[in-house]
Amino acid sequence: MGWNSWNKFGCGIDDAMIREMAGTLVSSGMKAVGYEFINIDDCWQSGRDKNGMIQPDAKRFPGMKALADYVHGKGLKLGIYSSPGPKTCAGFEGSYGHEEQDARTYADWGIDLLKYDWCSAGKLYKPEQMHSVYQKMGAALQAAGRPIFYSICQYGLAEVWKWGAQAGGNLWRTTTDIGDNWNRMEEIGFDRQLHLAPYAGPGHWNDPDMLEVGNGGMSVEEYRTHMSLWSLLAAPLLAGNDLRNMSRDVKSILMNPEVIAIDQDPLGNEATRAWKRGAAEVWSRPLQDGSVALGVFNRGDTAHEIQFNWADAGLHRTPARIRDLWLRKDIVPVSSFSGEVPGHGVVLLRTW
Ligand code: GLA
Repeated sequence: MGWNSWNKFGCGIDDAMIREMAGTLVSSGMKAVGYEFINIDDCWQSGRDKNGMIQPDAKRFPGMKALADYVHGKGLKLGIYSSPGPKTCAGFEGSYGHEEQDARTYADWGIDLLKYDWCSAGKLYKPEQMHSVYQKMGAALQAAGRPIFYSICQYGLAEVWKWGAQAGGNLWRTTTDIGDNWNRMEEIGFDRQLHLAPYAGPGHWNDPDMLEVGNGGMSVEEYRTHMSLWSLLAAPLLAGNDLRNMSRDVKSILMNPEVIAIDQDPLGNEATRAWKRGAAEVWSRPLQDGSVALGVFNRGDTAHEIQFNWADAGLHRTPARIRDLWLRKDIVPVSSFSGEVPGHGVVLLRTW
């Protein structure tokens, strides 16, 4: 869990704003509910010095080590970004031919996470080389002398979920980029994660991309669906908005501790789709204490009465206790579910 610069700011990043985000992650209360990483995405690099050492753009990032110290001082972790190709997706210096050296540099700076983005590597390597290309950096990070979380980003090519963990990856993107709109979020969250649940588990996760909550392109209802689905999917929760400027609704979505508890459940099981009727879908995720999280989604444009039996959702009996995680209250257990769900909306339940 944490924050990443890309979705909202793209290349518009510098040391001062990264520090502000770190400060705000703490002051907003996000750190207290589990957000920990501050991840610098693309565009921080300039070139290499005569020894081949990667150089940050000194005007915008005068000292990575000092920045990491600052972020660590807030009790947070710092992430950075590179590519196995010569250039990153935005055309900045990549790690091609400097993998071990870069891993050592990151460790020396005090970096805690690397997002490693395929980009121009596609021009150099064949798809069947992808596994070994990612493994090379995975091994370099492990040899670098500091625990560095490894975030594989190659858009779900070559069925990465089958080898991402072997390559040393802690998470791997399953699709091309998310966008701040319902159609893209819906496609990624519902349709593109089907059948991937067996590959997720503690230490190695499917990554349906970063959150768009708070960026303005979706309604409050749609952002609640986004957050619910990502939590059911055991996805990394990387906020992608401007933390310095969050409405009450946005805060309540990003910081609902009962929803975050679903995402972070230690069993690490990813939800599967249990039931579907037209636009109505129920996704179910077994949790460590024996309870089950159920997302009752309406993918249709207008409000819809959804009814299903608990057995349809994979439960063996009527739950003894049912909690609505967005209303944050218990509801009276009844023998089947029936309720109106708003268009593009969700009812997120935890059942015991
Ligand atoms: C790719 C990645 C994005 C982001 C950009 C940066 O598109 O998928 O998440 O890192 O590159 O250029």
